[in-house]
Amino acid sequence: MIQKLFATTLAFALVGAFAFAQPVIDGAIAEGEYANTVAHDESGAMLYWTIADDALRMGFTIPSSGWAGIGWLTEQTNRKTGGEILIATVGEDGAAVVFDMFQDAARGEPDMDEQNDFANAVAVFDADVWTVEFSRPLATGDAMDVDVVPGTPMIFMVAHGNTMDPGRQHPRDGRWYIEDFVF
Ligand code: HEM
Repeated sequence: MIQKLFATTLAFALVGAFAFAQPVIDGAIAEGEYANTVAHDESGAMLYWTIADDALRMGFTIPSSGWAGIGWLTEQTNRKTGGEILIATVGEDGAAVVFDMFQDAARGEPDMDEQNDFANAVAVFDADVWTVEFSRPLATGDAMDVDVVPGTPMIFMVAHGNTMDPGRQHPRDGRWYIEDFVF
């Protein structure tokens, strides 16, 4: 009886531990690591996220032969104007990097943020697939960032280039909006 109770308690403790475990930002996304998952069929992207402690922990995989990125808009005013942008690419030294950027213009390239609020990020490029994990406060206080507002529909963006140069745009069929995306 005591043994059975112990086993039950242990089982609940384990379930609790998994339910509340925070994703680990290590460049590998394990099954069940994140509380939420969305598959975006058009791009082949998989999006994963957990919101806890006023922070967003997010992972994604995007098939690409060049840079890959995500972004989000609070509302659409003029195309992608005002979007948060994160781009992962491979630098000249061969190391993967993640840039915090901001979309000022309706079309064209995003600008680099003055402050990198995606500093806690790991990006891995392997066999033409990006795996990226990062964490960020929901509100960074940086005017060049777009707050994440859980529970409110936002517009999520996915894009990838054909080269590692983020100064070279994605092809026309290499960028997507995901409407009514709710973090
Ligand atoms: C994460 C990174 C990026 C995302 C999520 C993204 C997303 C998008 C989206 C959704 C559009 C469609 C706008 C519309 O017509 O409503 C677009 C257009 C465009 N983007 Fe980006 N973009 C990214 C990076 C870049 C970069 C790095 C460049 C240039 C170096 C660029 C250049 C352009 C241009 C020129 C257009 C208009 C071209 C067209 O209508 O096909 N973008 N982008």
